[in-house]
Amino acid sequence: SSPVRRICCIGAGYVGGPTCTVIASKCPDITVTIVDINPVRIAAWNSPPNPKTGKLDDLPVYEPGLADIVQTCRGRNLFFSTEVDKAIHEADLIFVSVNTPTKTSGIGAGYAADMHYVESSTRRIAEVSTSSKIIVEKSTVPCRTAASMRQVLEANAKPGLQFDILSNPEFLAEGTAITDLENPDRVLIGSLPTPEGQLAARKLQDVYARWVERKRIYTTGLWSSELSKLAANAMLAQRISSINAMAAICEATGADVTEVAHACGLDKRIGPNFLRASIGFGGSCFQKDILNLVYLSESLGLPKVAAYWKQVIEMNEYSKERFARKVVSTMFNTITQKRVALLGFAFKKDTGDTRESPAATICKLFRQERAQITVYDPKVPHHQIYLDITEPGVIDDTEAAKKQVQIANSAVEACAGAEAVVIATEWDEFKTLDWEAIHASMKKPAFLFDGRNVVDAKTLRKIGFRVHTVGRGPEIVDPVWA
Ligand code: NAI
Repeated sequence: SSPVRRICCIGAGYVGGPTCTVIASKCPDITVTIVDINPVRIAAWNSPPNPKTGKLDDLPVYEPGLADIVQTCRGRNLFFSTEVDKAIHEADLIFVSVNTPTKTSGIGAGYAADMHYVESSTRRIAEVSTSSKIIVEKSTVPCRTAASMRQVLEANAKPGLQFDILSNPEFLAEGTAITDLENPDRVLIGSLPTPEGQLAARKLQDVYARWVERKRIYTTGLWSSELSKLAANAMLAQRISSINAMAAICEATGADVTEVAHACGLDKRIGPNFLRASIGFGGSCFQKDILNLVYLSESLGLPKVAAYWKQVIEMNEYSKERFARKVVSTMFNTITQKRVALLGFAFKKDTGDTRESPAATICKLFRQERAQITVYDPKVPHHQIYLDITEPGVIDDTEAAKKQVQIANSAVEACAGAEAVVIATEWDEFKTLDWEAIHASMKKPAFLFDGRNVVDAKTLRKIGFRVHTVGRGPEIVDPVWA
């Protein structure tokens, strides 16, 4: 049977955009159309190059290396469109990469994934298809979603058509999406064990095999594949919460969490990666996927399993609060009316994404303490910062937020006149700032709270900063015991 020639990707977000752009760049003979119901997002994907730089600076997703690939492929075999039906109709393989956020109301509110975007995409596919198709779950979904999709398709599709559903969860990390996609640790493809299911899986394997070694493409059953994505995110987040729990012990005892992490990581069974203590994890996925896993466990009658994973999130909340509390208590128990510079607002470096960013939580806590905050982030648009720090449903909170929170165009500008600097995102540029000049421009004593352990605390202390990091005792009090 024929190989894949036309791919449609439903959902032009952080996953659909970069994933299918890389497919288009690696497979020039496949036409890839990425569609979305959000016309603003599609217009941004189609935005022209900046006349000054010649680069695509206005894409809706910032990822190192992404703009160059879009520029090469767009209009050749890569298209961005709002014509969802047309792209579905023409495709022989469809990625469903729509959002699956945590439900905010109704049954399972606060835990379960909102599956309505996946279901309405599936219904659209059933409605407009006049030929058989392979449908690929790219979104992160609860275990057994493929079974629901199959029922929706079978009940609504034109007779005689065949739909093969595959699970192909995405493991890219924002900030390194392009390198992750070009050189993945593994590609996971789940299918039914039937001959049709396995044939569909082979066709998708053949797409990836253009640039991924076959031995890195792992095929499983559908349910294992769906669950593996939730499991991988739960385990990654669990490592962060584990090291953050150790950080609290380190701060209370004088142990150094970077040394503890290094010592643990030398054990091959543990490994060195993803053991950095910080104010906590953010991003659209870890919390949502664990909540989803907690809900799944509860619904399967496994409350102990649910409680185990829930604790990973509780430790993360605790890490953010503990950090904010330390800022206030260190600054003589009040930051009211004090100028605080908040450096970084994205949930991690090299992305403009602020979903579940710890910086937003910290900023909201500082607002409650009635501090005057100046935020600087190299990639996050100003309006997004205001959206993230205002309380929904509070009348006039935007006005109040604008009075209380200013946005600076550089770190130096944000810090001028401040009493404290708080680093909330590990942007590389914060390592090489002219800290001496910044110190000179601040009120004294000048506090620095490094929530990501990016600056060299020793050097900054020599300049005169009172430095507090995560997971290390404050300043060396007694050199004999240090
Ligand atoms: P996103 O919110 O950036 O993008 C989803 C897009 O789907 C939106 O632009 C939305 O307008 C569009 N959409 C929703 N319903 C639609 C419909 N019926 N027809 C056409 N377009 C529709 O979300 P993101 O971050 O790309 O995530 C997508 C999925 O991938 C989620 O399930 C997420 O859990 C998963 N994922 C996300 C990762 C990340 O780093 N952001 C990594 C791995 C998986």
